[in-house]
Amino acid sequence: KLSAKCKLQWLLLCCFFLLAHGENIKRSDFPDEFLFGVASSAYQIEGAYLEDGKSLNNWDVFSLYPGNIRNGDNGFVADDHYHQYLKDIDIIQSLGVDAYRFSMSWARILPRGRFGEVNPNGIMFYNKLLDELILRGIKPFVTIYHHDFPQELQDRYGSWLSPLMQEDYVHYAETCFKNFGDRVKHWTTINEPNLFTLMAYQNGKYPPARCSQPFGDCSGGNSDIEPIVVMHNMLLAHGKAVSLYRRDYQHEQGGSMGIVLDCLMYEPLTDSDLDQEAAKRGLAFSIGWALDPLTFGDYPSEMRQYLGNRLPQFSSAERKFMRNSIDFIGVNHYSTTYAKDCVHSNCSETANRAIKGFLDTTSERDGFQIGEPTGIGSLPVVPRGIGEVIEYLKNRYDNKPMFITENGYSEPQGEGQFQDAIQDFKRIEFHKMYMASLAQAIRDGANVKGYFVWTLMDDFEWIIGYRVKFGLYYIDRQTLDRIPKLSAKWYQDFLVNNTQTL
Ligand code: NOJ
Repeated sequence: KLSAKCKLQWLLLCCFFLLAHGENIKRSDFPDEFLFGVASSAYQIEGAYLEDGKSLNNWDVFSLYPGNIRNGDNGFVADDHYHQYLKDIDIIQSLGVDAYRFSMSWARILPRGRFGEVNPNGIMFYNKLLDELILRGIKPFVTIYHHDFPQELQDRYGSWLSPLMQEDYVHYAETCFKNFGDRVKHWTTINEPNLFTLMAYQNGKYPPARCSQPFGDCSGGNSDIEPIVVMHNMLLAHGKAVSLYRRDYQHEQGGSMGIVLDCLMYEPLTDSDLDQEAAKRGLAFSIGWALDPLTFGDYPSEMRQYLGNRLPQFSSAERKFMRNSIDFIGVNHYSTTYAKDCVHSNCSETANRAIKGFLDTTSERDGFQIGEPTGIGSLPVVPRGIGEVIEYLKNRYDNKPMFITENGYSEPQGEGQFQDAIQDFKRIEFHKMYMASLAQAIRDGANVKGYFVWTLMDDFEWIIGYRVKFGLYYIDRQTLDRIPKLSAKWYQDFLVNNTQTL
């Protein structure tokens, strides 16, 4: 039996260890079959924007206009992954991951959407990528559509504002199933439709830069139902593609289908009932907006209550194929924000209300930040948030299988010079803390099956360009060399040795 003094010494030692090393999370804290991976997306890394038959996509064209992307950056070369994919697979393999999440470039596979031929070079590129991954025992998790599509679909009928885009999407998805479905066992249809819709059709930030309400420099709004229409078309596109997969491909190919959502967590700003309601509305208006139709066949009642008949209806035939149209939920989680009621209280902020459920969001309470800011729009680091959002999903969607399809860190002001950038202790701490919260949620019964670090290597961070970096690998923008950061070493240790020297 240990003496009281001895116990105290142990306790002090443990405290010291925790303070010195933060969370001491190990791979063995997760279930045996749990998958770890890294994630990326086509437009952010591939480059080769006009090679081998690829056509211009919405981002290529958008970045031609000065002022759209910070620093005049674009994805024309990006990380040159199109040419250096073998090197990248080496790196991925060296990390010791089980899986790699990447997306396919719509404009590389179908340069003219459904109005032209399949591009054999595009098919060949993804064939080589898939074969190589499988050869090395790395499971491919493929996102069919991650923000980029052929510009022709924008020019012809305004892309997602038109229901015709659903047919395009289904045609593209089927092309992927036909050509790659023998090797891909995990598909996700659309990446973050809830974020893209707001960025592209409410805030005027992503192409086609439509504004649904006066918002900052995005004034002269078009119509406040555009984001709602766009999401409706995306959800129907998802539903149709999944029905087709299940009818014609799943039996033979045996894959599963999910969708990936931006899962920001909302906490009430105060304990008041109104703010607690607001936080719930925030989640329903962002996560429920997509997942309720794909699970229950209709939009959340919270949305109907506030948006009335501005929210589109699904026909009964549509409800049937929408319901249960996901096998798993892809969770992109980075941060948490406070929600404050704006329905029954006076809010100064008028923008963003319709789709965010009539709420103000803030990261500050009583002068305290909810967490340290990170690089995307100064989103705060709040490790408990990943556990909370998983708990929410678990309860609302009957503990459907979930994958953390993205979680990652970037410095608020970019990472500065090379030395600072590669000594990324904060990124390591971030992952350790978020993983610890996730591991706890799993111990509490959440059906989470995998975790992907965003991202493999620094890349084209959309409108923020190359300055904001999320990678485990640093990219020298002159030579395009891939240089491991400390976080790459940490992840490898964690994965391969079940330990961490950092
Ligand atoms: C989510 C998006 O899927 C990805 O493309 C982006 O780079 C990260 N978040 C970081 O902002």
